[in-house]
Amino acid sequence: MTARLVFDKADDRNRLDAMAQGVIGRPADRAEGELKVSGRAVYAAEQATSLWADRRADCAFGTLVRATVARGRVASLDAEAALAVAGVLDVVQDPRLVRHPAQGMARKSPPQGVEDVHYFGQPVAVVVAESLEAAREAARLVRIRYEEAEPSLDTTSAPSEFPEKKQSGQGDLDAAMKAAAVSLDETYTTASSAAAAMEPHAALAWWEGNRVTLCGAYQMLSQNVEELADALGIPAERARILSPFIGGGFGSKLGIAPEAVAAAVAAERLQRPVLVPLARQQEFEIAHRRSETEQRVRLAVDPDGRLTGLGHDARVSNLPGETFSEPVQQATHLLYRGENRSIRHEVARVNLTCAGSVRAPGEAVGVTILEMAMDELAEKAGLDPIELRLRNIPDEDPETGKPFTSHKLAEALRSGAAQFGWADRRNPGERREGEWLLGIGVASAVRVNFLHKARVRVTLSKEGAQVESSMTDIGTGTYTILTQIVAEMLGLPLGSVETRLGDTDFPEGSGSGGSIGAASNGSAAFLACEEIRRQLAAKLDCDESELTLKDGRATCGNRSQELSELLPEPLTAEGIFEPGKALSGVRSSTWGAHFAEVAVNEVTGEVRVRRMLGVFAAGRILNEKTARSQCIGGMTFGLGMALMEDLVHDRRFGHVVTRDLANYHIPTHADVPAQEVRFLEERDIYGGTLQAKGIGELGICGAGAAILNAVHNACGVRIRHLPATPDKILEGLCAIGR
Ligand code: MOS
Repeated sequence: MTARLVFDKADDRNRLDAMAQGVIGRPADRAEGELKVSGRAVYAAEQATSLWADRRADCAFGTLVRATVARGRVASLDAEAALAVAGVLDVVQDPRLVRHPAQGMARKSPPQGVEDVHYFGQPVAVVVAESLEAAREAARLVRIRYEEAEPSLDTTSAPSEFPEKKQSGQGDLDAAMKAAAVSLDETYTTASSAAAAMEPHAALAWWEGNRVTLCGAYQMLSQNVEELADALGIPAERARILSPFIGGGFGSKLGIAPEAVAAAVAAERLQRPVLVPLARQQEFEIAHRRSETEQRVRLAVDPDGRLTGLGHDARVSNLPGETFSEPVQQATHLLYRGENRSIRHEVARVNLTCAGSVRAPGEAVGVTILEMAMDELAEKAGLDPIELRLRNIPDEDPETGKPFTSHKLAEALRSGAAQFGWADRRNPGERREGEWLLGIGVASAVRVNFLHKARVRVTLSKEGAQVESSMTDIGTGTYTILTQIVAEMLGLPLGSVETRLGDTDFPEGSGSGGSIGAASNGSAAFLACEEIRRQLAAKLDCDESELTLKDGRATCGNRSQELSELLPEPLTAEGIFEPGKALSGVRSSTWGAHFAEVAVNEVTGEVRVRRMLGVFAAGRILNEKTARSQCIGGMTFGLGMALMEDLVHDRRFGHVVTRDLANYHIPTHADVPAQEVRFLEERDIYGGTLQAKGIGELGICGAGAAILNAVHNACGVRIRHLPATPDKILEGLCAIGR
């Protein structure tokens, strides 16, 4: 049985709140948590030594050979020395390996070049050996001669394009700037950054007949399997991907990646399983990065502090021909009022590692900068930063006039201010502890909300329920929330529901990207359960809405029966959720407010974040614990962006300089302060059948701005070039004579 819903109109039935159990929302522990903490959750690189014990002896290991020029062609490849290394089986140079790297998600293989090198470190061949050590040694011995071409490595002088879809404007911003009571026109930059997921990419592939199976770590399996098949030149039915556990993706695992194609091609040639794991350095060089940005913000207000003009220009970079560009201004369109608006978007074409989606693409950098500019504007206008924001919250989408499905920004700002102690805020330099100057800052949080097609299969038997989907859990909590939804709907204890994910032989889940997972797959699971409930209700001759499932019993009015009696055979239903017209007439996004307290060392320029508070609204919260963890993670990403993360490329040769976790700084435990997260009660009837919205990426959007606004409040220094490393703080302190 299938239950398909095309989401053409808002769902205001609010079925979940009426269910008997109240499992949804509860801070349930992770369904797969025990497997993870006990080391029994098997990740991609471990599959070769663990899961397929019978194949273990047979497994070969591959290491990618990568280009040492930033642009050109492979003129010749000399494998003689590599092949002489003991244990080396083959040096595979297959055109299918030499791929123009893309972030994927297109259901197609990224374009395959003809031995073209587009960036330094691009894979061009794979060495396969009996051991990983032999493969690594041999990979260093492969001699490649290149026909080099002049690369474009300097983002500021690189040729650029202005994608038409991303330019917009209304009214006359220049006139509004001239007529403004107070205006601001500043340019800011953010650094390129790496996804830096804890688990590096790895793929194990083997062929059975003409069908390939691949164990890897990917976020969007139903698309990834098509990309893989397309890259290999086979129909999608002949490919299967397994990604049951993923140690973080942060966008870097959205698309099929070079190690997957290399493993599959090598496994086919050798007719044995091949594992291709990436070393941490390769991860930094091959996995797509977040583009650096240059952002000019123009703001104009009238004497009452109401925005009359808003301009946001952004310059980002990517490889020539890539269609993705960091959607910096995605939320600028809807966050604040202002009748004169201008948005310009420019993409510089550079021969650096492919740029793609990383942790809230767009808002992560765009909202952060806009919110830093708002803080500067508030100071210029002599207004409290929260008051300035409250005066500029639009009643409807300021560009399209569409109503918001929900809007909790004002509530988040107000209630967060009370909780954080905003009233105690002083002027820069007024709070001091020895060498440390203290300050607090605020920023709005906003992230556009999407829904995606998703299918989930649920089987109910006497023993309990089984949930199956090719949906993934990249650490976000998908296993847990799907388990909770099904337990809630079918009246089962959490332990009686088994959720199986990450296998493309299961019904097509939405995948994990753009925070679409919870509402989309959750809705599909809901639909499957609703269908099963319908079947059970029919057996009791009643309506599904009157059915209560609880403690293994089905009850309808005065009829009640053991579930085991009603289920001689298991009942299976597949829920299919498809976004329809419901969201076309409205604006859907998630909201919140960030607060941060920092201490700035006057002598060393060091910034220490002392505490952070995030207040968020994202529709129904499905699990208070996993949702909170998502937000804490996001706020920590914001800390990294504001103070540490900087993916540096050498502008002479194009290689990545900060290519390990010693040089690419991310926040570690000692850097992360007390973080509090509070959710505002909300049901969004446009959030699928669960009235829920995505929360995975909201926590990062604006978090870094709250920190840097707090830095200014502490010491009076405005940092406009992220990350705010001590050298920049010291320079700022000198400049203001402190
Ligand atoms: Mo996300 S950056 O869409 O994985």
